[in-house]
Parts: sequence; structure tokens; C-alpha cells
Amino acid sequence: MSGGLVFKDRNKLSPYYIPKRLPHRDQQISLLDSVYGSMLKNIKNAYPRFIQIIGDTGTGKTCTAVRFGEQLSEKAKSEGINLRHVYINCKVDGATRYVLFSNLVRKVTPKISTRSLSPEEMIRQLVEYLRAENMFLLAIFDEIDYFIQINPKEHVIYDLTRTTELSPGEPSHIIGEIFIARSLKWHERLEPGEKSTLGVGVIEFPRYTNIQVREILENRIEEAFHHGAVDEETLDLVSDITANSPVNGDIRVGLDLLYYSGSLAENQGLNRVLPDHVRKVYGEMNPTITSEDIMNLNENGRLVLLALVRSLRAGKSAYAGLRDVRKTYELACEELDIEPAERFEETVQDLVYRGIIEMKSLTELGITGASATDLEKFLNSLTQRLKREKR
Ligand SMILES: Nc1ncnc2c1ncn2[C@@H]1O[C@H](COP(=O)(O)OP(=O)(O)OP(=O)(O)O)[C@@H](O)[C@H]1O
Ligand SMILES: [Mg+2]
Repeated sequence: MSGGLVFKDRNKLSPYYIPKRLPHRDQQISLLDSVYGSMLKNIKNAYPRFIQIIGDTGTGKTCTAVRFGEQLSEKAKSEGINLRHVYINCKVDGATRYVLFSNLVRKVTPKISTRSLSPEEMIRQLVEYLRAENMFLLAIFDEIDYFIQINPKEHVIYDLTRTTELSPGEPSHIIGEIFIARSLKWHERLEPGEKSTLGVGVIEFPRYTNIQVREILENRIEEAFHHGAVDEETLDLVSDITANSPVNGDIRVGLDLLYYSGSLAENQGLNRVLPDHVRKVYGEMNPTITSEDIMNLNENGRLVLLALVRSLRAGKSAYAGLRDVRKTYELACEELDIEPAERFEETVQDLVYRGIIEMKSLTELGITGASATDLEKFLNSLTQRLKREKR
């Protein structure tokens, strides 16, 4: 049961839940529809289109793309077309080109065994499979900037955008690929050939304004809380914090604030969420690390982060030495009876790429966005969250 004194259904505040309607993203959805929706009319002659979605964190890129994929598949189905959409998050599904492509194939069908295949062969078999089944595919690659950053030499864009060249002259069963990133900066790491096949189709996701944030959160509150459980002033405060610096419109932070403030109110036996709950929760939060960031980490990543938190605490400073963190990490592994990973440094580097850890120098680590004064409070709540979300 997810209901309670204030919550009707707290899962509706989860970063993974996608509401049916996405206010203020109609324009982006209709742009996507003008590209891919129109292909349904003559799908047998469709050539793939690549679209890039660009926008700051929490501007609804992921939820909009996934929702659009669902809509397109449904529309295709109603027209008797077998179209699938597949969502790949490079932070979760793709540490290397090999892993990325095998996850792509696996999400389309269990019928292709990727075990002994090279990445090129996987794509070839995927295309053959789609053709044999008369199935069409829209693939969404999220956090592509992260992938390119950790694998600058793998040239996945080349493989992914040249699938038509496997059978020149024939229309493609992969009708489109959507690449999602925070900005266009990842292009710097691409080869000229990759940039050119990728094309210039870019859809921008601007930051939400104050009024937009309020409306979006209001909708989520209706789904998640009992009627009247969240005061107007509470909503105003959450919207203000979310829309302004340093959060700058990241809806995820607004949802986290509502979630933890609601939990706090319930723990106090109250049936209303008050501005004071929000202030308390916000004081213990770091806007740059959200629950989703933590949920996306594997066990090893979480352990390294926990070790860093513990080292920072013990050292009472904003930075901890790499060797120190490693020792704490090994202790934490021992505590939990887990074999320490050989690639400790790589995990640290990965956390840096994810924007969670900050490297002051080669040997000094801190937590991104946390100033020394609010570090202690933040570390307390982060340790709690790491514990809670470890399962
Ligand atoms: N227009 C909207 N209506 C309702 N909820 C929204 C809207 N935009 C974003 N959200 C919610 O905010 C959260 C963050 O959105 P999303 O994950 O799509 O952001 P993003 O742009 O992909 O961010 P990042 O770059 O950090 O991955 C999600 O829980 C999503 O459901
Ligand atoms: Mg996203």
C-alpha cells in the first residue's frame, strides 16, 4: 500500500512514473509526430530519420520521448503496422558498445542470441530480424552524451546511423533514432562523418518557467496526494524553489521535495504538508543529486559513494583523499561481505562523469554542489537515502 495520511499514491511522485498528460511539452510532441507520425502513411518506403533532443536536466526530455514512443506504437497498431519503440538509457543499459547493442537487441527480441556476436553483427541481425518479421522500430538512446564521454573511440553513432547501408537502396525497418543529451557539446567528440549522418534535426526543451513548474507539480499533486493535503503556500514554495536558481526548473527536485516533505508530515502524524516541512527537507537536500541518480547506480557505485560520504564525515572537510576513500570502501565491502571491485578508480571516474562526485585534484574528491557548511546535513540525509535505496 502506498496510501497514508497525506498520500493517496506516493508512487506518482517517482521519477520513473510518467503521467498521461505532459503539460507544456505539446509542441515538442507534435514536432516528433510531424517527423515520425507522418511516416506511418507510407512506412514501406520510409527512410530513417534521426532526431536529437537537447535540454537541461529535468526539462522532461526522457518522459516526453518515452511517452511519444508509446503514442506512436499505439497509432501504428491501430493502422495495422507492427511498430515497436525501444528505450535505452546509456547510463543504465550501456557501459560499452557491446553492452549497449546487446541490450538494444534484447529489448527488441529474445530470439537473437548476442552472446557470440560482434557489435556490428548484432546490428546486422537485428535489421534482418525486423525485415523478416515485417516489424518497424523507433529506438530512443537517452544520455548519449554520457556514453560518448566514457567511450570516445567506439563510434556508436556511426554504427547506429548507417544501418541503411547494410542493404543499400532499400527502405529501412529502423524508421528512426532519437538521441537525448543535455546539450550539443557531445558533438565535439564525434567524427565529421558521424556528425553528418546524424543530421541537424534538433528539438529543444527549454527550462520550465515558474508558472509552468507550478502547473506541472499541481497535476502531480492531484495524483499523489489526498485532496487538500498540500497547501497552496506549500505548492508556491516548492514551485519557487524548483523554478529558480540553483535548481533552475528541474522538475525532479520539485517531485523529490514533495515526496520527502509528505513523508515528513506523515511521520509527524499530520494530514497536511506545510511550508515548514518543505524548508526542512530542502535544507537537507543537494539539488544536484536526486533519488534517480542514486537509483541508477549499481551496487558498486553506491558503495563508493557511501565510502566517500563516510570519509568526508570522518575528515570533517569538503574533500577527501582518494586513498582514504578506497580504504573506507574496502571496509564497507567487508561489512557487507562483498568482494571489493578491482576497478575502484573506474567507478570513481564514472561517478565524476555522472556529475555526482567532484574531483578537485587527481587525489581529492568531494560531492558536487555541496558547500562545506551544508555538507553535514546533506551527508546525513544522503546516507539515509543510500541505506533505504540499497535494496
Ligand atoms: N511536462 C511535464 N509534466 C509532468 N511531469 C514532468 C514534465 N516534465 C518533467 N516531468 C517529470 O519530471 C521528472 C524529470 O523529467 P525527465 O526525466 O523527463 O527529465 P530529463 O529532461 O530527461 O532530465 P535529465 O537530463 O536529468 O535526464 C520526471 O519524473 C518527469 O515525470
Ligand atoms: Mg533524462
